[in-house]
Amino acid sequence: LERTFSIIKPDATNRNLTGAVNAVIEKAGLRIVAQKRIRMTQEQAETFYAVHKERPFFGELVSFMVSAPVVVQVLEGENAIAKYREVMGATNPANAADGTIRKLYALSVGENSVHGSDAPETARIEIAQFFAGNEIAG
Ligand code: GTP
Ligand code: MG
Repeated sequence: LERTFSIIKPDATNRNLTGAVNAVIEKAGLRIVAQKRIRMTQEQAETFYAVHKERPFFGELVSFMVSAPVVVQVLEGENAIAKYREVMGATNPANAADGTIRKLYALSVGENSVHGSDAPETARIEIAQFFAGNEIAG
């Protein structure tokens, strides 16, 4: 079984949608094996999105991620990384398929409700940034 890292972003926590997002995740057959609600620090958000630091939206992205609590999660399942990307839908909700989290709940390309790792190596790094091994119960 594979693991991926997920974030329920501030636009979704603000609108009380964490349960609704989790329902879509669980219905897709992904198991939530770790979860906590945190307020990300500026430094955590900058580290997490360091790959985007040269992009024009980096400042906006970091301010958004620290603007309200987020829920960080580890999801487990067959092909969890690709499966969760499919369940999330396209980055821009205008392009997201019906039934995906972003189609259902995202507000814009920036306020797009969820994050999911894009590859095994990033999943490993992202999980380790937010969870100790003994906080994950598979
Ligand atoms: P993540 O799972 O959050 O990494 O989304 P993604 O992999 O679908 O998109 P990508 O890695 O390309 O971009 C990371 C995040 O940057 C997106 O999820 C958005 O929140 C944000 N982002 C991307 N493009 C834009 C943009 O044009 N404007 C703003 N404000 N944010 C953007
Ligand atoms: Mg990404």
